[in-house]
Amino acid sequence: MNVAELLRRGISGEKLDLLERLGRTAEASGERLYLVGGAVRDLMIGGRGPDLDLVLQGDAVRFAGDAASALGFGFDRHPAFGTATILPGGDFRMDIATARREAYAKPGALPDVVPDIIEADLQRRDFTINAMALCLLPSGFGEIVDPFGGADDLKKKFLRVLHDGSFVDDPTRILRGIRFSGRLNFSFDERTEKLIREALARRVFDTVSGARIKKEMKMIFEEHERGRVVTHLRAFGIGNSILPGFEFSLDLFKVADLVREAAFELSGGIGEGEVEPWLAGFAAAAAGNSPPVLEELAERLGATGKESEVLTAAGGSFFKELAKSLGHKNLKPSQVASALDGLPIEVILCCYAYGGDNERGKIRKYIKETRNVRLEVSGDELVSRGHNPSKRMGEAIGAVLRLKQDGLVGGKEAEIEAAENHLKEDC
Ligand code: CTP
Repeated sequence: MNVAELLRRGISGEKLDLLERLGRTAEASGERLYLVGGAVRDLMIGGRGPDLDLVLQGDAVRFAGDAASALGFGFDRHPAFGTATILPGGDFRMDIATARREAYAKPGALPDVVPDIIEADLQRRDFTINAMALCLLPSGFGEIVDPFGGADDLKKKFLRVLHDGSFVDDPTRILRGIRFSGRLNFSFDERTEKLIREALARRVFDTVSGARIKKEMKMIFEEHERGRVVTHLRAFGIGNSILPGFEFSLDLFKVADLVREAAFELSGGIGEGEVEPWLAGFAAAAAGNSPPVLEELAERLGATGKESEVLTAAGGSFFKELAKSLGHKNLKPSQVASALDGLPIEVILCCYAYGGDNERGKIRKYIKETRNVRLEVSGDELVSRGHNPSKRMGEAIGAVLRLKQDGLVGGKEAEIEAAENHLKEDC
């Protein structure tokens, strides 16, 4: 099979040009260069992934170094892994790995690396649809190396592992498979599904580090079709396989989409990089578990302080109740602020997802307006007017902030007057 035309249509001129140049260089030095993995899969289904991963049957580190200096590009090397990265500029990067076979010292461990031919390199991969290589040499440009029937499985929409030990070698492939099944709307073939169930029954995740599971969760909750992915996670009981007692939420399908909608609708009020959308999605999917289970989950995954805070907030019915508490008709903006101030933005997004129109309107106002209200009066200002610094002064400033949030004072003079009135009242 030759997909040169698909490659020419799917990859932009500059990148295609680079691939062709690298292919010519490899052929001239008697080596074989291939595009591999997700990029080949995506090209063959008419899509285009962001990454271009190359494999060289030869010494990839030397090859990439020579090519990068001939082309005047940046270059990064990882000799211990037999890999290198060519950095043509901007955020475009091209990873080149030495074709290799892998041996796993023990289940769940990272593999040892030994150079080998391209077929061996493909054999160490997860699913047939990810185990194809596309030749970049001028003499065979666009030819597909497909030893496991990946092209046929792409047509049948099947996710099929290459051998029975795949999930025991690397249990994270179960999570990858579920992610691909949601993203592409593919099914596992019967044997692969049976192997997943057997691996889970053997509790294969017990030997996988929390950091690797967290990395997979991040990728899952960054997927566009994450609602569908989580339906599959539930169907396989993945929650309980990661941590006994943990279950992905039933509400998720609805809530995951709503969290995305919330992030979009509130985007004008949320700063660049303020939200970690995967974390908001994960929290929504964790809603309803008991708080101690979520604390344990955060610990199991090696969550950061903020991640733990967001995950544990998902405990019980906190999101629903927080949303409900904002539903009172006459709630002032300052009261909404005192309920939401200090909460991570991801928690607020989940609360938004659970709320009705009324609650959402209040959260929108809080995000876009109230939380940005700043006073012009300060403690220093009041001290310079003869007041002593004290707890009461802090309370007065808080009271003026609430007035300002509710639109009842405006301008520095009015704020000073309101603060001084408050201090007088307190006497
Ligand atoms: N791979 C694997 N087992 C893993 C991780 C990766 O076999 N646990 C192989 C697959 O062949 C995969 C390739 O390495 O296609 C590259 O990995 P990655 O970039 O993570 O996967 P993509 O298939 O490119 O996925 P995505 O589209 O999500 O980037």
